[in-house]
Amino acid sequence: MSEAFCLLIGSIGDDSHSVGMSLLEIAFREAGFFVKNIGIMNDLDDFFNHAENFNVIFISCMNGHVDLYLKDFPLTLRKFNSRNGSARVWYLGGNLSVQEGHESVIRKYRRMGFDFVSPKPISCRDIMEQLLKDLHHKKIKKKRIHRLVPDEPIHIAGKDIIDDSPLTDEEFRSQRESVLDSWNTGQEVWDADIKKNHADAMKNMHHIIINNQSRRTGPLVQPRTGVAHTCDEIDILIFLRGKGLDISSIQLDAASRKKMFDKAQEGVLRTEKGKQSFLNGYPVPIHGVKGVAQIVHAIDNPFQIRAGSPDHRLVYEIALAGGASSLEGGFICYLYPYDKTTSPVASLFYWKYVDKLVDWYDKKSGIIINREFFGPLTCCLIEPAIPICINIVQAILSAKLGVKCISVGLAEQGNRSQDIAAVKVLDKMTRKYLVKYGFPGCTVSTVYHQYMAAFPNNRDKARDLILNSSITCALAGAARIMTKTPVESIHIPSKEDNAEGLQFTHTGLLMAAKETVNHKAVKQEITLLEKEVSTVMQLIEDLGSGSIARGGMRAFEEGILDIPFSPSIYNKGRLITARDCNGAIRFVNPEQLLLEKDIIEFHKEKIHRRLSRQGTLKISEILESDLTRIWKNDFARWPLDDHYLL
Ligand code: 5AD
Repeated sequence: MSEAFCLLIGSIGDDSHSVGMSLLEIAFREAGFFVKNIGIMNDLDDFFNHAENFNVIFISCMNGHVDLYLKDFPLTLRKFNSRNGSARVWYLGGNLSVQEGHESVIRKYRRMGFDFVSPKPISCRDIMEQLLKDLHHKKIKKKRIHRLVPDEPIHIAGKDIIDDSPLTDEEFRSQRESVLDSWNTGQEVWDADIKKNHADAMKNMHHIIINNQSRRTGPLVQPRTGVAHTCDEIDILIFLRGKGLDISSIQLDAASRKKMFDKAQEGVLRTEKGKQSFLNGYPVPIHGVKGVAQIVHAIDNPFQIRAGSPDHRLVYEIALAGGASSLEGGFICYLYPYDKTTSPVASLFYWKYVDKLVDWYDKKSGIIINREFFGPLTCCLIEPAIPICINIVQAILSAKLGVKCISVGLAEQGNRSQDIAAVKVLDKMTRKYLVKYGFPGCTVSTVYHQYMAAFPNNRDKARDLILNSSITCALAGAARIMTKTPVESIHIPSKEDNAEGLQFTHTGLLMAAKETVNHKAVKQEITLLEKEVSTVMQLIEDLGSGSIARGGMRAFEEGILDIPFSPSIYNKGRLITARDCNGAIRFVNPEQLLLEKDIIEFHKEKIHRRLSRQGTLKISEILESDLTRIWKNDFARWPLDDHYLL
């Protein structure tokens, strides 16, 4: 037994930001606290149910909605205090209100009973200093705890009975009825003129990918779009086509992602045509097959749907019936970054349906649909071996389920040598594993995402990032590039913002021919990544004993697959990553992944050097700096090779 201050931390309400809390968790552990992080989307009861065993309760909210969730706090606190005599410290912090000024927010919540209120994010050091003062002032005593409190094990119920087999035709038929019944436009799918909506080969993603691969004309360029009305969406896509867009796509709006279709409908009604969209994406289920078909008929290139949550069966049914030829998502990549409680077994069930649907289009109508996996994951400090393995697991599974055209994705991290190596290894290893599993004919192509974490809020820095990011993409030889805009950190881009992003992207792609690459550094990164991916994939295959999906799930249980900053309760959240002195992403605790000894040493050495150059022993300090420097424009230029830490 030993003694420590015990800290409970979590976010409240509909806020799904988990990065800041993970950082605080690490910082307070390093300071000797016992920390329990209950993650995102809690209600007040979740905090009060645990509070008895903690000295400090830290409630976070990053989206300005905290007011909606704390109305009962004063009364609940009074009741709690009458049952629990000992003193505690209650903290509230994040981005607390979108309307009220700092002072009035602080006054309001202090009056409710919080000891400390921070209406805007502040540094870990400031929180720590304040907290130590409050603990001292309230004479709070440390609690006795077991020296080694083990992690709560992750248990994915049902993973032992799943396998990689497709839905049977019978299972598919019966599920289909209930999926298409779940919202009125689902019914349009039964009578859709699929042949007509997919008639033009130039609008088929698979066809365009193959064409581009044989002509070697550089990456296909794809911006993100998504507004409430079909006519406005068409307007944007046609405008951007004239500015260098190769692939059209929409982002599904947030309400539709959560299957709150009535809210999405309300958003459409509240948006005047031609005016600012009330929705942050295009609501596929509201406009139905007719809407998607209208878009597809109006454009002259492939149309893709991008969404971001575990269950998109209805949305993707409607999209394919309307003529979309590419769908993004997979049972891991659309679960772990977005969702707290859905089980990977349920997610697998949803995605087997989507792949069965894709197989059905091929078998019934000879239409090949492209399936793409979302490589950026949680976007923050992702060492490339993690998404490469996750892409490969999903690629093998989809190929087994009948998919013939697969795109694998990665997000730029900022060190050019590492980013080039990552794309090359992703391409090579995905092909290698598909051949190994008996799918040499599957079309594989890579998708490169311009930097996906918090973007510089200075527009010139953002422009420079986009331009140089495109150079990296061309040098890496990716097949497609997802573009950003100079206003990324400020608001959802207008079509003009997107056009500017396209302009800088095309300039960068052209400039790549004149750039020199550090071939030695790229080769080193390739060797490293290939070894890491081989080791982790071998572990996944062993754990799966014949099923790659089961292997993936068991790997998450064991922490061999572990996505930094994931909100999922099915993610261990113990793996820590940080930048080295050159801005490349390394594992702080690589032993978690059971990598080979020399690789473990390599990562540790890189992190050790970073810590000593920065003059600290604290991982949380370098992490905080990595998570904030880019959006604060605190870097000389992009990419970060050779100057991230001078
Ligand atoms: N229109 C344009 N871009 C969008 N993004 C998300 N929704 C939309 C939309 N409706 C972009 C964000 C970010 C990425 C995840 O997608 O700006 O770059």
